[in-house]
Amino acid sequence: MKYKVLLTHELFPEVHEKLKNHFEMEIGAEGKDEIIRKIRDKDAILCFLRDPIDREVIDSAPKLKIISNYAVGYDNIDVEYAKSKGIYVTNTPDLLTEATADLTWALILAVARRIVEADSFTRAGKFKGWEAGLFLGMELNGKRIGIVGMGRIGKAVARRARGFGLEIVYNKRQRLSPDEEKKLSARFMDLDELLQTSHIITIHTPLTPETNNLINRERIYKIKEGAILINTARGAVVDEDALIERLEKGSLFGAGFDVYRGEPNINPKLLKLKNVVLLPHIGSATTETRLAMANLAADNIIAVLSGGKPITPVW
Ligand code: GLV
Ligand code: GLV
Repeated sequence: MKYKVLLTHELFPEVHEKLKNHFEMEIGAEGKDEIIRKIRDKDAILCFLRDPIDREVIDSAPKLKIISNYAVGYDNIDVEYAKSKGIYVTNTPDLLTEATADLTWALILAVARRIVEADSFTRAGKFKGWEAGLFLGMELNGKRIGIVGMGRIGKAVARRARGFGLEIVYNKRQRLSPDEEKKLSARFMDLDELLQTSHIITIHTPLTPETNNLINRERIYKIKEGAILINTARGAVVDEDALIERLEKGSLFGAGFDVYRGEPNINPKLLKLKNVVLLPHIGSATTETRLAMANLAADNIIAVLSGGKPITPVW
């Protein structure tokens, strides 16, 4: 008898084929209720970061052996509970590091040079000739970038920062070795000082109980006047309401978001602000990266259901 696998959403045909060679597959489950209905007889689930895999879902799947998340972050899964039931949880680390770092830089540059506003202006037929004061932005060369969370993605952002002539400071729960700091030309800094002194602040922590609301209201108000804040990690790391207040007051240069608290819902106040760039959670969205992630997510399932160990276990 073949094992049964639930794919909550379509991926790539070649990945479907690979899974079909081994398993009986069901594709498509939107929202928790449908997942609960469809997971009952499944041995594995391949899910997205928007799929909540909580206790109730796990309890409705007595045969489940692996939860394979198509993402590096796994805050959508109750990992401790899965672990207590002996169900493996896997993610797709490493593969999306460079793509996410690229997108972070796309946001930094778009905000600093007001690319989206300028594009709309041009399309609206408002370009009437070169002007001295048209869309003045923030020069990057010589400024300080503060990286909050210096894991793989934070480091990839730091490597790019050198090319733009930025001074690099970072904060991380565990400080890097002096060797690594030297390699990245990055200096460790207390979080509050980083916020108070960086011209560009970019968040690269996972969402955990410790980082939930890490950049809280008090810290939002510590951010340097005229700075840029970028978030390509998870929306819940930042107090969005406080940040919006500061953006509305014009006391920050701008902000760039790929993730939101309560996404896909977006605070309507954000939509009204000109000095923010808003993306629909596309950090890892390159064809190369997404295909590699899909293959790894499938291979984790194949490994576990063949009686082996997962390739990239969260536990
Ligand atoms: C994207 O946010 C991911 O965690 O892969
Ligand atoms: C996630 O932060 C990663 O470093 O892969």
